[in-house]
Amino acid sequence: MLKLRPSSRISQKLSHVLGKQGFQVTTYARPDDLLITRGQNARLFDDLHKKEYIDFTAGIAVTALGHANPEVAKIMCDQAGKLIHSSNLYFNPECLELSEKIVEKTKEFGGQHDCAKVFLCNSGTEANEAALKFAKKHGINSSPTKQAILAFENSFHGRTMGALSVTSNPKYRAPFGDLVPGTEFLNVHDELTTLSSYISAKKDKVAGLIIEPVQGEGGVFPVPAEKLLGLRQICNDNNVVLIYDEIQCGMGRTGKLWAHSHLPPAAHPDIFTTAKALGNGFPIAGTLVNEKINNALQVGDHGTTYGGNPLGCAISNYVLDVIGEDKFLAEVTRKGELLSHRLKKLQQKFPAQITDVRGQGLIVGAEFTEAPKDVINEARNLGLLIITAGKSTVRFVPALTIPDEDLNSGLDIFEKAVEKVYG
Ligand SMILES: Cc1ncc(COP(=O)(O)O)c(C=O)c1O
Repeated sequence: MLKLRPSSRISQKLSHVLGKQGFQVTTYARPDDLLITRGQNARLFDDLHKKEYIDFTAGIAVTALGHANPEVAKIMCDQAGKLIHSSNLYFNPECLELSEKIVEKTKEFGGQHDCAKVFLCNSGTEANEAALKFAKKHGINSSPTKQAILAFENSFHGRTMGALSVTSNPKYRAPFGDLVPGTEFLNVHDELTTLSSYISAKKDKVAGLIIEPVQGEGGVFPVPAEKLLGLRQICNDNNVVLIYDEIQCGMGRTGKLWAHSHLPPAAHPDIFTTAKALGNGFPIAGTLVNEKINNALQVGDHGTTYGGNPLGCAISNYVLDVIGEDKFLAEVTRKGELLSHRLKKLQQKFPAQITDVRGQGLIVGAEFTEAPKDVINEARNLGLLIITAGKSTVRFVPALTIPDEDLNSGLDIFEKAVEKVYG
């Protein structure tokens, strides 16, 4: 780990800042020996403790083009000097350009074949709220009882009341009592015939079904293509809106523009949502729909003050230009193979502790037999930031632009951490 030498004045100021942590509500547990002050591509710096880290978290799969990306910084600066916000009362060119680009790139790069329109907003949870509302509206238009949303066990769709209602983790749900009524959870491992009978028996009540093509927070579980194809068919048969949540697994992370770009058109959704990498750290998100869904909507059905603001859209126009390129996506696939290959070799060394390595592209999970808290802490001590998913998975979601050198050095550190804990 490289040691940094900031001036003692900076160090004093930062030390003072770290002392202000008592003013934040008690919703996070964070290490109190870490204060992130700067970043550069796949590296993060703590100028207070004079430490440099390789970052395998990318701000939880957000900074796909790296921290402090110079082009993103320039676009932000230029756009901020022109116009940051003007509201959805009026058109702005950056928003119009992004709306066309995201729809057209989706179709060009094998995503939703009938993609038609986008609703731009500000976070993943907000994009999912819009998706749920749109699906409900579509259901209610055909029958007032058709309102329920089906989701899956092990899912994560966000923390607002609607998104939380379709998030299965009891730890997140239980403290908040009654959530949106009519939500039910299915098991993704159930046979398609079982799922089909269950859904068709409730078809008069069910408006939509939401699923992550790769369950991220739940532990990095890619849903098999045949399952998604079958679910699409079940939704067609029962007039149920199919929603893919691509907030974590989309925007190039699996080596295609969208995770569902790996699927044939017959498995494409009616709605899909994106956020995280879309703004490379600037909060922006989108809910993409086909004409069928858009036809269910009217002026006034939904809205947002900040969504589609010129600053966020200017950034996303650039991010989509970079990620929506065959060469860039091929590099993600190559780096993903490098990552998975090395993790599988480590698994062979520690078969009793690492039971599975799974994922696609640069979203990979290594399943441990127990919660990998010690490995995460040891890795941090050694200069690698990495996160968990589910109960016992270490999740690898580095910047898509991570250089091979950093990927390999980070994996060296990870191996050392595993050896130190289990060797
Ligand atoms: C699949 C998925 N959906 C929704 C969300 C919520 O996104 P946000 O935190 O931007 O509201 C997340 C965040 O981790 C996610 O991974």
